[in-house]
Amino acid sequence: MNLSAIVLAAGQSKRMKTDVSKVLHRLQGKTVIGHVYESLRRSGIRKVITVASRDNIEGLKKEAGKIGISSRFVIQKKQRGTADAVREALKALRQAGSSVLITSGDMPLVSRDTYKNLIRKFLRTRSSCTLLTGEVSDAHGYGRIIRRSKEILGIKEEKDLAGDEGRIKEINAGVYVFRTQPLKKLLPRIRDVNRQKEYYLTDIISLFKKSGLAVSTVSVSDPDEIQGINNRNDLSRLMAILWKWKSGTLMRQGVTIEDPETTFIDSDVRVGRDTVIKPFTIIESGTRIGRRCVIGPFSHIRNQALIMDTAEIGNFVEVKKSVVKPGAKAKHLAYLGDATVGRKTNIGAGTITANFDGKNKFPTVIGDECYIGSNTVLIAPLKLGKRVKTGSGAIVTRNQVIPSGSLLVGVPAKIVKRTS
Ligand code: UD1
Ligand code: CA
Repeated sequence: MNLSAIVLAAGQSKRMKTDVSKVLHRLQGKTVIGHVYESLRRSGIRKVITVASRDNIEGLKKEAGKIGISSRFVIQKKQRGTADAVREALKALRQAGSSVLITSGDMPLVSRDTYKNLIRKFLRTRSSCTLLTGEVSDAHGYGRIIRRSKEILGIKEEKDLAGDEGRIKEINAGVYVFRTQPLKKLLPRIRDVNRQKEYYLTDIISLFKKSGLAVSTVSVSDPDEIQGINNRNDLSRLMAILWKWKSGTLMRQGVTIEDPETTFIDSDVRVGRDTVIKPFTIIESGTRIGRRCVIGPFSHIRNQALIMDTAEIGNFVEVKKSVVKPGAKAKHLAYLGDATVGRKTNIGAGTITANFDGKNKFPTVIGDECYIGSNTVLIAPLKLGKRVKTGSGAIVTRNQVIPSGSLLVGVPAKIVKRTS
């Protein structure tokens, strides 16, 4: 099938009250639009055109690049509504495929499988349009699906609802597949006579029906997928959904999460079996946790940190861009940044790897089976051999290689004993 996708992302983000387009806000490790591109790419869509605004086009291009999807871009100069945005896209897409999928840049949770299901139903039923709908608990703000008996008649936007239509729970997700030809033909018939004086793409459904074209729907299995981002409240709700999904997935894979409500693990993080995650823990995108680890309570793991099997990270410990090797422990009040912590090494309470001199970051390498005393400061760049011990409060100054078996004490720390 010759399918192109149009991503609508030129909106002004009025409800977000922001200087940055809403689709460029961050949602875990990616931007909102990044999630959309990723799902499209994974559903096998190769030809994409994005409708951007003057303000966000550069940002959108960068995101497409990062995700590795090739998109063309058009600028919609005036945001006159979703139908107008599609018109702009089709103008630029002279060689549009025979069908076109349309989605919104502000719907980051629609999954690859949902896109695939929609396309499948469109093909199987030979519809002229198949659209995604869902039953959400709070339909406020969404376009509602108007049906007579089972058949879809059209979509009405929230602001234009009349009578008891406000009670309709089935909403329009804003994701559609169309046959390109009737779409092109009927788009110009859409008028901006509505409360917002915008050209609504949603009006196309009744136009299709009146022209005798078949329209079918797919109901999304998890309504959380079709939550969009229009304001800051939505943004935080979507983060919460992603974290809830992630905890669910990890628990099914054999990870103990004591309190999913206060555990925040980004979607792409891998966690090994039989690891226990204690409450109030944040594990950010790009990090990895091995098997049989204990993480938390109150741990923060971020920026490419790798916690290897059986390591333990505890109360108020931040680990950034560091490797913590098997069996190592940092149980209380520590900062490990740009560090390597050797096997079975114990990091005492209050240990800091001072990795930043105000301009640059430097690495700290700590060997296997070291014992770092409470409140030690390790000033990078620094390398400790195996079985190095530091006394409480030691400040180990930079640019040193400490031989294995040394005991260091004081400020600045001096080697007082060597065992091997
Ligand atoms: C839209 C649908 C609504 C649906 C909801 C699902 C319309 C008229 N309404 O409403 O039925 O329930 O999505 O989330 O389509 N955009 C442009 N150019 C414009 C206007 C919008 O590119 O001129 C883009 C926006 O950036 C956004 C997307 O289109 O990514 C949807 O627009 P938005 O204003 O968010 O529509 P909703 O009010 O959410
Ligand atoms: Ca929206």
